[in-house]
Amino acid sequence: MSALLEVRDVSKSFGAVAAVAGVSLAVTEGRLHSIIGPNGAGKTTLFNCITGEVQPTAGRILYDGRDITGLPPHALPALGIARSFQRTSIFPTLTVAENVWVSAYARRETRGGPVLVPADRVEGVGETVRAALAEVGLAAHAERPAAVLAHGDQRLLDFAIALAARPRLLLLDEPTAGLSRQETQRVIAYIGTLKGRYTIVLIEHKMDVVMTLSDRVSVMYFGRLLAEGTPPEIRGDARVREAYLGKRA
Ligand SMILES: Nc1ncnc2c1ncn2[C@@H]1O[C@H](COP(=O)(O)OP(=O)(O)OP(=O)(O)O)[C@@H](O)[C@H]1O
Ligand SMILES: [Mg+2]
Repeated sequence: MSALLEVRDVSKSFGAVAAVAGVSLAVTEGRLHSIIGPNGAGKTTLFNCITGEVQPTAGRILYDGRDITGLPPHALPALGIARSFQRTSIFPTLTVAENVWVSAYARRETRGGPVLVPADRVEGVGETVRAALAEVGLAAHAERPAAVLAHGDQRLLDFAIALAARPRLLLLDEPTAGLSRQETQRVIAYIGTLKGRYTIVLIEHKMDVVMTLSDRVSVMYFGRLLAEGTPPEIRGDARVREAYLGKRA
């Protein structure tokens, strides 16, 4: 199996802070690969390097065999890369459907080129929106303002927005952050249904979630890659345990 995403020896420093220091990982197509590590370990910065939010100080990012290092964030949906943020990125005053529409429409434009899109292609966007909302179970909320949704539903809307861009690779940054136990269960169950259909990189703190969902786990610690392996390997890794226990003790 080939790697859909390959991170090669990537580093990113902010002044004296080495947020990411020589991290490499390869994500096999169709797998769910989690990135864990204590707060400030560099997980989000690594995502930002992949998506062009920040420029890596060193290293390369390869996607589907192509060097995408330094491409701006807006170039990625057209390549099939979608990202959810640590904090929700919905437009609160737009309706639920409109939020998804923006994503589906943008994807259309980047493929077709021109700003003006023929009406039949816009209708195709409508179908994409309906399908994405049905998929996350928000069809009944389509015409409500996004702001009135419960937290868990807003997170599912984030997913619908990501899926409307018809990605191959999903980058999810702490999709359960700030959710209640019950909402977390719902979002986790949902991510479970995405497994195998998309290649997923998941940043997550909740260890039970990581161990249940992941095919592989990379552990970051102070910007570096501390360990990588299957969930049982990571659970049994003394260095990983020390990193976490050291932090929490
Ligand atoms: N734009 C920035 N400017 C300066 N320092 C930054 C910037 N972004 C991140 N950092 C620093 O880089 C380090 C890694 O931060 P990052 O947000 O990547 O960690 P994280 O693993 O995602 O943490 P968390 O689990 O809390 O989300 C931290 O020391 C952080 O303060
Ligand atoms: Mg983070």
